[in-house]
Amino acid sequence: MKGILQGVLLCSIVAVVVPGVQLRTRNGSLPLVNRFCSFSEYSSNADCVQSHYRLICRGGFTSYWIKDIRYDITHLRVLEWPGECFSVGSLEYYFPGLRFLEFINCTRLKNFKGSFNEASKIEKLTMQGLSSLWELLPGVIVRMPYLRELDLRRNMLRHMKAPLLYGPPRLERVHLSGNTWDCSDGGLDWLAMEQENGTARLRIADYYDLVCYQKLYRGKPLHKVMDIIKTTKLTCPDPCVCIMTHVVSDPTGAVIPLITVNCSRRQLEEPPPALPPSTTTLRLEGNKINTIRGIIQNPHYTKLADLYLDNNSISAVKELEGSEWFSKFRVLSLRGNMLEQIPVYAFDKAFQVNNNIMHVYLGHNPWRCDCLYIPRFQGLLLKYKRVIRDLPDIKCSKSSDKKTSLAQISTIPLGIVCTADSGMPISLVNIVNLVLLLLILLVVGKFLYDWRSFKSTGKLPWLSSILP
Ligand SMILES: *[C@@H]1O[C@H](CO)[C@@H](O)[C@H](O)[C@H]1NC(C)=O
Ligand SMILES: *[C@@H]1O[C@H](CO)[C@@H](O)[C@H](O)[C@H]1NC(C)=O
Ligand SMILES: *[C@@H]1O[C@H](CO)[C@@H](O)[C@H](O)[C@H]1NC(C)=O
Ligand SMILES: *[C@@H]1O[C@H](CO)[C@@H](O)[C@H](O)[C@H]1NC(C)=O
Ligand SMILES: *[C@@H]1O[C@H](CO)[C@@H](O)[C@H](O)[C@H]1NC(C)=O
Repeated sequence: MKGILQGVLLCSIVAVVVPGVQLRTRNGSLPLVNRFCSFSEYSSNADCVQSHYRLICRGGFTSYWIKDIRYDITHLRVLEWPGECFSVGSLEYYFPGLRFLEFINCTRLKNFKGSFNEASKIEKLTMQGLSSLWELLPGVIVRMPYLRELDLRRNMLRHMKAPLLYGPPRLERVHLSGNTWDCSDGGLDWLAMEQENGTARLRIADYYDLVCYQKLYRGKPLHKVMDIIKTTKLTCPDPCVCIMTHVVSDPTGAVIPLITVNCSRRQLEEPPPALPPSTTTLRLEGNKINTIRGIIQNPHYTKLADLYLDNNSISAVKELEGSEWFSKFRVLSLRGNMLEQIPVYAFDKAFQVNNNIMHVYLGHNPWRCDCLYIPRFQGLLLKYKRVIRDLPDIKCSKSSDKKTSLAQISTIPLGIVCTADSGMPISLVNIVNLVLLLLILLVVGKFLYDWRSFKSTGKLPWLSSILP
């Protein structure tokens, strides 16, 4: 209780003495130190050295330097600032004549409180070795009227917003290398869409030295990743969403993105006419597509490896037969369509030659279940059960026949299917076979009879006697 009271008291004193300090009430979970971010906090262990108009302070400001306003100091170097927060308002209050300001090796510094205002005369602002600084918010610097150069090398910056580069009116050069840029979460997409001669791009002096650091782009040159993001954004078909899932480098060092185009549930009747280069995955679930012709025969789809067509209205896939795509694909999902049958022989052939194949899904289709089709289809399912991943969902269509209706095809006994054709115990094929057998017997019988009668009587059969 006493501590809190003291804190509040201290706050109000600081607020009176230092007009620039803004006091925001934040959650009580933060330590008091962060809450008001005062210079006096660290004066006891600080060490300041002045030579003429230059001042170098390590570990804070000694109390000598935060007694009066010092108009004479134009160069200030803040070394190893011990706090997580630095009050810009206080700085401007004590050192209104600053033209060069440096923060070096302030490894704990996370954020700046307040912002430089129109009265600032600072021309060059340097922050280096700030290993806890993830982002410099534009608000801190946008109003600096004389800022020409911003050196932010060797920090831990991941993101920046466009106004950081656009904002300060006189800004000419910004150095950004040696940071840990995150190119993967969209935070830098605005930079990707910049013109090559756009203001922000021209202000970044070391644009071609920047490297992406986070996640899938780790270690990749930022400018190449930005080019990829731009191309992807410009070629992503409407109304789909395109995201990069992986980035690989080819032997020549070129950066190749692997892109997923998500067109799920967008009421599409046709697949998109074109895809971004190197799209590997296309998701078309829950649309109204009724043929795969536009996919299999489209030259823009050649790199496509994974195709998800769940919950559409596809009733035939004969276009797959003999297609190049079918012998190279990785994933094909046709769940929830209107397939009654597939060209079993073509599937078997393609699966045999396809070395990439990983998963095929065929469940929740109204499969035809008769003796003509099921033995072959079941054979395929069992032969490739490692690839066809949803066997329990591959069932006969619903029908009045209790034995086959919704039966799992991979486990259905063939006896049931092949005798289940109710009302016709002997199938048509068998009738034909039977007739053929009778005819053969007849011919052989007649031949034997004729041969015997020729041997005993010497009489030629009637047919031979009338032939010339
Ligand atoms: C502050 O506390 C409120 C509730 O007391 C909570 O909803 C909010 O998320 C907290 N904010 C931060 C930044 O912790
Ligand atoms: C900042 O730290 C780095 C490495 O920790 C050191 O090499 C450099 O001399 C330091 N800079 C200053 C000005 O103290
Ligand atoms: C930027 O370059 C483009 C072509 O690359 C050109 O059309 C445009 O006029 C240029 N803009 C400026 C401001 O120079
Ligand atoms: C694709 O988009 C749909 C609809 O916007 C969304 O619900 C789904 O989560 C997305 N799928 C993936 C894999 O991103
Ligand atoms: C397809 O539709 C079924 C039933 O409506 C639903 O449960 C399933 O999640 C859908 N699948 C996809 C991939 O959208």
